[in-house]
Amino acid sequence: MNSSHSIFSTLGRIYKILPKTYRRKSILLTLAILVNSLFEIVGLAAILPVLAAILKKGFVEQQPILHALYQQLAFNDPKHFIVAMCLMILLFILIKNLFGVWVQTKQAHFSWNLHESISSQVFENAFKRGYLFFSQNNSNRILNRINGIPQQFAQQMLINVFQLINEFLILILIIGSLLVYDYLILLLLGGIVLPVFVFFYQTTKKRIASYGTRLNELGPEIVKPVYEVVFGYVDVVVNGIFPNFKKEYLSKIKEAKSLRITVLIIQNIPNRLIETCVILAVLIILLYGLFQLQETDKILTLMSIFGLAAYRTIPSINRLILAVMNIKNFHYTLDYLEDYLNTSSTEKNTTPILFKEKLCVKNLSFSYPDANNPVLKNISIEIKKGESLGIMGSSGSGKTTLMNILLGFLQPTSGHFSIDEILVDNTNREIWQQKCGYVRQDVFLIDGSLEDNIAFGVPKSDVDPIRLEAAIQKAQLSTLLDTLPSGKDTNIGERGAKISGGQRQRVGIARALYHGAEILFFDEATSALDSTTEEEITESIRSLHESHLTMVIIAHRESTLKYCDSIFRLA
Ligand SMILES: Nc1ncnc2c1ncn2[C@@H]1O[C@H](COP(=O)(O)OP(=O)(O)OP(=O)(O)O)[C@@H](O)[C@H]1O
Ligand SMILES: [Mg+2]
Repeated sequence: MNSSHSIFSTLGRIYKILPKTYRRKSILLTLAILVNSLFEIVGLAAILPVLAAILKKGFVEQQPILHALYQQLAFNDPKHFIVAMCLMILLFILIKNLFGVWVQTKQAHFSWNLHESISSQVFENAFKRGYLFFSQNNSNRILNRINGIPQQFAQQMLINVFQLINEFLILILIIGSLLVYDYLILLLLGGIVLPVFVFFYQTTKKRIASYGTRLNELGPEIVKPVYEVVFGYVDVVVNGIFPNFKKEYLSKIKEAKSLRITVLIIQNIPNRLIETCVILAVLIILLYGLFQLQETDKILTLMSIFGLAAYRTIPSINRLILAVMNIKNFHYTLDYLEDYLNTSSTEKNTTPILFKEKLCVKNLSFSYPDANNPVLKNISIEIKKGESLGIMGSSGSGKTTLMNILLGFLQPTSGHFSIDEILVDNTNREIWQQKCGYVRQDVFLIDGSLEDNIAFGVPKSDVDPIRLEAAIQKAQLSTLLDTLPSGKDTNIGERGAKISGGQRQRVGIARALYHGAEILFFDEATSALDSTTEEEITESIRSLHESHLTMVIIAHRESTLKYCDSIFRLA
């Protein structure tokens, strides 16, 4: 990760990451924020002439602009004029504040809408990365990429960008007016502030960026041991290893703590440094005037103007520096978003896959990325529609891997896999997956009713009762249904805790049938089967076989596969 980019290239990258509709909006918003800041400055300054007019007799007559206004508007009593001025200021402050609320609302909408847009895009693109991406990445990290990073970008990063541009433009205004008023003061101020700022920025920007990157990585790392204790509670207790998890948790928390403190300190240094330097400069010049010059009062006036200018500019400069540092701190979001928003989508092949005749695997080999040896070597299989194939082989021989290839989750390293002569690959695997059903022994069940679990992911109002009934029948769940207190609306518990292993599997079958699967894949967990469950499953396979559903079944006992048309053995 390169963190030594200039702030300009960073801004360019941020702009490119913004979806097109947000680019124009971001410019308009920047303008609105600028107008808002100008209002703030003018609002403060506007009080001064009124105060002077009240306190100083004859001020209105002496002050050329006020006097012109006074005459133009045909006032005949300065007091009335002052009252009018007060009302104007009140009106102005009112408008300014209304405008301020409006800008803030716009800004909040902008960044939260942007979060919504980017986050959902990242979610979709992450999903498209497919099976290997999800099976090989830590879930906390994936969550951080999908939700955390878009939020940090849309909130922290962009707000700081707005702040930066805003302060920058205001500084230009101040510098511009100083330039007209007294360039000497500008030189003096610039001569002190600029070197301090440049030095500080150059020495800390890399560090700030790397701290930000590390802090972001630490987010998922901190929750990891907590999740592991939650999900592996029993194992953690019986192995007596809680102290290890606690230790890991504590070490991550400690690391995050010291990084956060360091970042906070670094962010606060420039403010104090610049202030110190400015005061130092003022004192030196004053003392120089005191000892070396005759016209002390000239120096004195110059210095008080300088002090005032510094007083006005330093907070602005400080906010600018803080914004720059925060942008560096969240720099890591750019690398991830550029990666995850990059939609180099593969061309989609929309030729329908009808699956009328056969599924064919030819000379297929497969290796996992970074693995030395291929899991599958030169495999050829053919399954005719309506037939069932059993797959056997020792643990680790690649049965699940082969099934994942047939399901289109993994791309073969060489050889090919086709349906009715149509090659299945990344361009059309989704079409093929629509026809597939996948049943594992530990079927993924949600905490919901039997119906919710069968019509998985379908909103209750859209569930087709006839189809549901047919799926229940075919999957032989009718007996279970009769025993459930509220029928298909009975909750079957989180992870199906309230039903048996065989029933759970049949819920998986019913789900596949409900969703119109034309081919069913079964993946048996090796050991967990007792003989009753095994018989139940063999019976399910028999009845599905009779209704001419195509099936691919991984089993560990040949007896489970007695109704299969053929058996393939993996070495
Ligand atoms: N996502 C993965 N990344 C890398 N290697 C993997 C991955 N999944 C499996 N493997 C490796 O591939 C080999 C085959 O695994 P697979 O799950 O296909 O075996 P299996 O035949 O289904 O075993 P079992 O009967 O125990 O379920 C194993 O050596 C395994 O370590
Ligand atoms: Mg397996």
